[in-house]
Amino acid sequence: NIADSYSDPIRIAVIGGTGLQSLAGFTPVASLNVETPWGTPSSPISVLHHSSSSTGKPIPVAFISRHGLYHEKAPHEVPSRANIAALRSLGVRTIIAFSAVGSLQEAIKPRDFVIPDQIIDRTKGIRPFTFFEGGMVGHVGFADPFDNGVGEIVKKCGHSLAGEGVVLHDKGTIVCMEGPQFSTRAESNLYRQWGGSVINMSALPEAKLAREAEIAYQMICMSTDYDCWHSSGDDVTVEMVMGNMKANAENARRFVGAVLDELSKEEHADLVSAKHLENSMKFAGGMTAA
Ligand code: ADE
Repeated sequence: NIADSYSDPIRIAVIGGTGLQSLAGFTPVASLNVETPWGTPSSPISVLHHSSSSTGKPIPVAFISRHGLYHEKAPHEVPSRANIAALRSLGVRTIIAFSAVGSLQEAIKPRDFVIPDQIIDRTKGIRPFTFFEGGMVGHVGFADPFDNGVGEIVKKCGHSLAGEGVVLHDKGTIVCMEGPQFSTRAESNLYRQWGGSVINMSALPEAKLAREAEIAYQMICMSTDYDCWHSSGDDVTVEMVMGNMKANAENARRFVGAVLDELSKEEHADLVSAKHLENSMKFAGGMTAA
């Protein structure tokens, strides 16, 4: 008895990564099968109601599981253009994106959270990475790949959970690799020399497409392993990633709740509507709706 349509604009979305296939603790009100000119999103879009603890008003939040409902999509198979275009068509202006990451620094321990501020692109150019093609030309600024305003809110919320076991690193550079294989030891050491803090397979092209769609985007990384550079000798495995993600799920849920609470406060209405990004892309017409 969940609705298959939702008529009010939805301003906030969460993209769940490995280990975060659904958002427990929020009330599901609709499940939307959205089609876009760029194909079908990774999963139906769940619309959840979050009761803001400050106003008590239910705030709609859209949720997509990046790798599909059953983790059936490898990182290079994620339909990122469809995901971003579908969210935009619902009215989304702010995205909080979760990702499991390997740590490239001793100080970032498995189960720590990192709010990254930079990305190094090590994808191979095989993923569709822009909305601009076929005669439509657009060059978007990407010097700071994440949204500062949303980043500040996310950090504040993360630190407020320090007493509940959330360890947070306030900045960091993500190396986004192609995968699906993990890195060689030589690559892992090279990324450390480049100044990488964490490594994943999912920050791109998602962050680029969100920027093109004028959506404020911030990733929250959850460290699950030390990749393969660490002297402990425990090289990353999928079991290690999944195990630490599961162990951290409750912290992730608390973290999302705190961020949604904060984002849904009235004083952040401008930020949530991403007014500061408006018209940065003159030609994003195909994606605009609400
Ligand atoms: N996601 C989680 N751990 C990872 C690692 N070590 N390398 C790439 N992506 C990851």
